[in-house]
Amino acid sequence: MEKKKKSILDFRKMKEAGEKIAWLVTYDSHSAARAEEAGMDMLLVGDSVGMSIYGYDGTVPVVMDQMIYHSQAVRRGAPNTFVIGDMPFGSYQTDEKDAVLNAMRFYKEAGVDAIKLEGGRRVVRQIRAIVDAGMNVVGHIGLTPQSSGQFGGFKAQGRTAESALEIIMDAEAVEEAGAFALLVEAVPPEVTGIIAKRLKIPVLSIGAGPCCDGQLLLDIDLLGRGTVFAPKFVKVFVPQAVALVNNPCNSEPLTLANITRAAFNQYVWEVKRGIFPDPEKHCYKMESPEELKKLKEMLDRLEGDFIIT
Ligand code: KIV
Repeated sequence: MEKKKKSILDFRKMKEAGEKIAWLVTYDSHSAARAEEAGMDMLLVGDSVGMSIYGYDGTVPVVMDQMIYHSQAVRRGAPNTFVIGDMPFGSYQTDEKDAVLNAMRFYKEAGVDAIKLEGGRRVVRQIRAIVDAGMNVVGHIGLTPQSSGQFGGFKAQGRTAESALEIIMDAEAVEEAGAFALLVEAVPPEVTGIIAKRLKIPVLSIGAGPCCDGQLLLDIDLLGRGTVFAPKFVKVFVPQAVALVNNPCNSEPLTLANITRAAFNQYVWEVKRGIFPDPEKHCYKMESPEELKKLKEMLDRLEGDFIIT
């Protein structure tokens, strides 16, 4: 039976019902097709394509045309899965008009269901404008790779009370601006947990722990194809996938297509059951337990008159 594509209403219901959302970054039609077969809830055509496929040092050089071509490929491979296009550096930071026109290119030329952009309070005007133009937006806060130079590199964020509070204020601003979901990257699980409780929209994690509404990983990472740099939060699902395909009760041949589908399947299964991520292996810690205590005290003091913009 053909899979029914989920909508933003389904994702909200999944949050309310406590069902975790399984989300995958992919850039090509074959991988997208295997993800659809494995029952992935959402796909992201990430601007990490710059590092994963084109061999750049970061995501900054990626341009709209590259994102459109890869989004078209993913759309063709997974026609019945919710696809999100990632706005590359320079396509939305300038002003609301650029943001709306580039988001529209994703919709019109690649048939995506939503776009994602990086930043909290500093991009609320762009989020509002894209939503007002009739499109769906996912926010992205914490470690934001396009501006990682401002953090001094790809570093975990929100590890002190002060920086965690900034991230919580960004999260509230993104929800207030109209985003239908929020991605939190490389932040201690306790901070993500606070955000997921405060927000009505689904809060998803990449390297931000299990205490939220779903998980995101890059296909290239979970398939162990990324040899340049694998962050702490990555789990390679290939050994389990090979065992599943090799099982004597399984008649499928040991091909890369079957291993890929089995790896995606295992990822979906572990996300849905809260097995992945493991808080000990795949998460970043606060700088000290005192920082978490201080954060809770700061939030208690601020309650009632929280400033979000
Ligand atoms: O481009 C991407 O793949 C992303 C994830 C790293 C979150 O934005």
